[in-house]
Amino acid sequence: MLNNKTIVLGITGSIAAYKAAEIASRLTQAGSKVNVIMTKEAIQFISPVTLRAVTGSPVVTEMFDLASEFSIEHISLAQAADIVVIAPATANIIAKLAAGIADDMLCCTVLATKAPVLIAPAMETNMYNNPATQDNLTRLEARGFEIIGPASGWLASGKEGVGRLADINDIIGSICQVLGRDGDLAGKHLVVTAGGTQEPIDPVRYISNRSSGKMGYALAEAARDRGAKVTLVTAHTSLSEPAGVDIMQAGTAQEMYQAVQGVAPHADALVMAAAVADYRPIKAAKDKIKKDKAELTLKLELTPDILGSVKGDFIKVGFAAESINLVENAREKLKQKGLDLIIANDITAGDSGFDTDTNRVTIIDREGKIESLPLMPKREVADKVLDRVAALLSKRSKR
Ligand code: CTP
Repeated sequence: MLNNKTIVLGITGSIAAYKAAEIASRLTQAGSKVNVIMTKEAIQFISPVTLRAVTGSPVVTEMFDLASEFSIEHISLAQAADIVVIAPATANIIAKLAAGIADDMLCCTVLATKAPVLIAPAMETNMYNNPATQDNLTRLEARGFEIIGPASGWLASGKEGVGRLADINDIIGSICQVLGRDGDLAGKHLVVTAGGTQEPIDPVRYISNRSSGKMGYALAEAARDRGAKVTLVTAHTSLSEPAGVDIMQAGTAQEMYQAVQGVAPHADALVMAAAVADYRPIKAAKDKIKKDKAELTLKLELTPDILGSVKGDFIKVGFAAESINLVENAREKLKQKGLDLIIANDITAGDSGFDTDTNRVTIIDREGKIESLPLMPKREVADKVLDRVAALLSKRSKR
C-alpha cells in the first residue's frame, strides 16, 4: 500500500515532533517517498538533519529555499503528493488551516494540494478541549480533512489526559486507509474473524489452540486498505488492533457465534479466519480446580458451527487447516458449510498455518476451481483472497 507513494509529512512545533522521525522512517522503509516540511517552531524540537537522514530526501524549512530541488516548492510538493500528513499538528496549524491562512510552506502546500490531508493533533488537554480548537477541527473535517487522534495518556505537562499524538501504528494505518479508500472494496462491508477462541475450564484455565490471529489481522488490514468498511471479530491475540477497523472482542466460540450472527447478515462478505474451538468444557468450574485427584476427566461438548449456521445473502469464505487430504477435506467443508470460497492450508509444514508470518494456501471455489499459491507473507495471501472476494462481489452487483 505504501510502496511507491509520495507522502508530504508536515511537522509542527509540538513536543511530539520527535515521533515524526519514526513515522518518516517507517514510511520510507515501506517504500514511500517522504517529503518533509517543518515549520520554524518544529525545528526547535527536532533537527531537519534527522529527517533528511531517515527519508533520504531534502527537508523543506523555508518558504524560499534557493538550494532546494523543488521549483516553486509548495506547488510541486502539493502536486506530487498522494497524501499530506501533518503529525504532530499543533492547535496553531489547525487554526491556520481552518482559517485558510497561507503564511508558511506547510499551509501553502495544504492549500495547493488536491491530495487528501490527514491531521494528527497533539497538544495540551485544555488547548485541545478549547471550543476554538474543537470548532477548527470540525470545520476541517467538514472540508474533508481526515483526523486521527489525539490519544489519551501522559502529556508533557506532567498530567494525564487527552492530547497525546495518536499511536504511530494508528497513524500509519490511517495513512493506508486514506490512500486505499477508492480501492476495489470501496463501499463494501467485510466481517473478518481472527485468533483462537479460549474455552474456560475454570477461572484461570482454558482450552485453546496455536492460532496467532496474524492471518485474520492481515485480512482486516488488507480489506481496509482496499476501501472496505471492516469489522474484525477477534478472539484473544497478542497483536495490536489495526487502525480504521471496527473491533469486536469475542473470547469464546459462543461469543464469536453471537458477534458474527449479529453483524455478518448485514455485511457483504464474511471471512472466517478464526480458529474456533470445536469443543468446550460442558461447564466451567466456578472455582479454581484443585490438584487433589490422580486423574481428571474433562467432559466436552461441541461448540456451535459459526460458519455453517450463519444465514444471509453475503459471500462466505472459510479456512480449512488440514494435516491430511488437504483438497478433499477442504472441498467437503466448502460444501457442508455452503461457502463461496475455502482457503485450505497445509499445517504440516513449519512455515505455513498456525503462528507463522507466512502461509501456503490453496483457494477452492464453488465450481471446484483450485488455485494453489506458493509460500508467501500472510499479507500477500490476504490480498490474493480479497482479489477473489472482490471478483465475487462485482459479479454479484452485476446480477
Ligand atoms: N468454524 C466455525 N465454527 C466452528 C468451527 C470452525 O465457524 N465451531 C470455521 C472456521 O473459522 C473455518 C472453518 O469453519 O473457517 C473450518 O474450520 P476447521 O476447524 O478447519 O473445520 P471444522 O469444521 O472445525 O472441522 P474439523 O475440525 O473436523 O476439521
